[in-house]
Amino acid sequence: MTESPILVLGATGKTGRRVVTRLRDLGLPVKAASRSGETRFDWDDPTTWDAALDGVSKLYLVPPPLSADPTQEITALLQKFSGHVVVLSARGAGFHPAEDVVRKLAAEWTVLRPTWFFQNFNEDLFAPAVEAGELALPAGDGSEPFIDADDIADVAVAALTQDGHAGQTYDLSGPESLTWAEAAAHIERALGRPFAYRACPPEEFHASLTAAGVPEDLTELLVQSMLEIAGGESAYLSDGVQRALGRPPRSFTDFVTATWPSA
Ligand SMILES: NC(=O)c1ccc[n+]([C@@H]2O[C@H](COP(=O)([O-])OP(=O)(O)OC[C@H]3O[C@@H](n4cnc5c(N)ncnc54)[C@H](OP(=O)(O)O)[C@@H]3O)[C@@H](O)[C@H]2O)c1
Repeated sequence: MTESPILVLGATGKTGRRVVTRLRDLGLPVKAASRSGETRFDWDDPTTWDAALDGVSKLYLVPPPLSADPTQEITALLQKFSGHVVVLSARGAGFHPAEDVVRKLAAEWTVLRPTWFFQNFNEDLFAPAVEAGELALPAGDGSEPFIDADDIADVAVAALTQDGHAGQTYDLSGPESLTWAEAAAHIERALGRPFAYRACPPEEFHASLTAAGVPEDLTELLVQSMLEIAGGESAYLSDGVQRALGRPPRSFTDFVTATWPSA
């Protein structure tokens, strides 16, 4: 275990927040960093980087969230850091530039490559749709083995605090593949009010992301991810949670029941 601080980027986000809590529960020193975090870190303002990295031996790297290709930013950051990097990547080759540059430049690295998170439904992108009662995506009737951000955080903390995870790429999925309609039906039952999935044309999703201020290149990547799901390319399960933690991942139904306990 390390005594110098661990720097957690994206520390107010869905995985970063959970990583910070777990590390502190272990009694480890943590710098919780983001634009609005305890430690100020802004990918768009490199003058904030040196103070954030000062004294740090390990790094949980959440790439700049609005960048489709963060190679430049990560390259510049890793020129200033020589410890173990645990990087949050994603399933789908379009998301892999971040992990490629970490593998190339970091002294030690661990790659986490998750599917779409459960917590998009209650903490982020799809929460307004849950409120409104309808989620429209160009994912057809394809299925996705959604994953719990708590499982991702558990794997990240294992990689940051235990031996044996350097050089590993963990493909992380939940224990079952669900169509978006099935996921919506689970949530609807728990909510006790209407919530349905509607398969929409890619142009409609594209327009909604543009209206939400998502940059064009990332919008295209997210549309591509949905089309891959529609084509059945993302239905397969991955065993990264079992490999890293020796236990199975948490199920979507357990998440739904815990999140909307009126079920
Ligand atoms: N969501 C999913 O289902 C999913 C699935 C697979 C992979 N991923 C990957 O997870 C990563 C995080 O995405 P997310 O959507 O889950 O977001 P998130 O981690 O929940 O939130 C984004 C985090 O980044 C921080 N941030 C935003 N802009 C920043 C900037 N310019 N400089 C420094 N920090 C900044 C935010 O805090 P402040 O606002 O305080 O700066 C926040 O802590 C992405 O690389 C994505 O590809 C996500």
